[in-house]
Amino acid sequence: MASWRTLVRLLAIGLVLFSFCDAKELLVGGSENAWKIPVNSSDSLNQWAGKTRFKVGDFLIWKYDGKVDSVLQVTKEDYENCNTSKPIKEYKDGNTKVELDKSGPFYFISGAGGHCQKGQKLVIVVMSEKHWDHPDSPTPTVPAPAPAQNSASLIKPLRDGFLFWGLASFGVAFAFL
Ligand SMILES: *[C@@H]1O[C@H](CO)[C@@H](O)[C@H](O)[C@H]1NC(C)=O
Ligand SMILES: *[C@@H]1O[C@H](CO)[C@@H](O)[C@H](O)[C@H]1NC(C)=O
Repeated sequence: MASWRTLVRLLAIGLVLFSFCDAKELLVGGSENAWKIPVNSSDSLNQWAGKTRFKVGDFLIWKYDGKVDSVLQVTKEDYENCNTSKPIKEYKDGNTKVELDKSGPFYFISGAGGHCQKGQKLVIVVMSEKHWDHPDSPTPTVPAPAPAQNSASLIKPLRDGFLFWGLASFGVAFAFL
């Protein structure tokens, strides 16, 4: 019986890992300390965003010096005007992690004085799985990423809805047998 239980437990742990391995952690700008005034007037952070695919459940990670900079999540208007007075959320710990918990645009600007005006800002568009192959027209500043075809798309429908959460909770329950 012990070996049977071990087998079930391994299977359960596998299911849990499978359920959650789809969420990614994305380092903003693609490297540490990319959260700074762009060297060029061209919009390097948004160029990175245009090449990156964001899905619901992914995490954005910022690495920066929390003593001199911060990350503000703001509205579209405040993004455009670089208005730092009333952010939706403010992060200044130097190692900021934000979950992309819904589809649609997210706007971030630097809280350091004058940085946003000099281009330290980021807009990303999170796609829902439904729009995977036909992204809604994103904001004009972000070119639509080309749809990537990979094997994962075959199992995506499986992960949706009941089956996914059923398996996940089944897995959690049995992992603690
Ligand atoms: C800045 O942009 C110009 C033109 O887009 C380019 O020629 C130059 O190499 C860039 N400089 C840096 C430091 O990336
Ligand atoms: C910034 O936003 C605040 C609150 O939303 C508003 O009262 C203020 O006028 C704005 N400032 C600028 C310069 O747009």
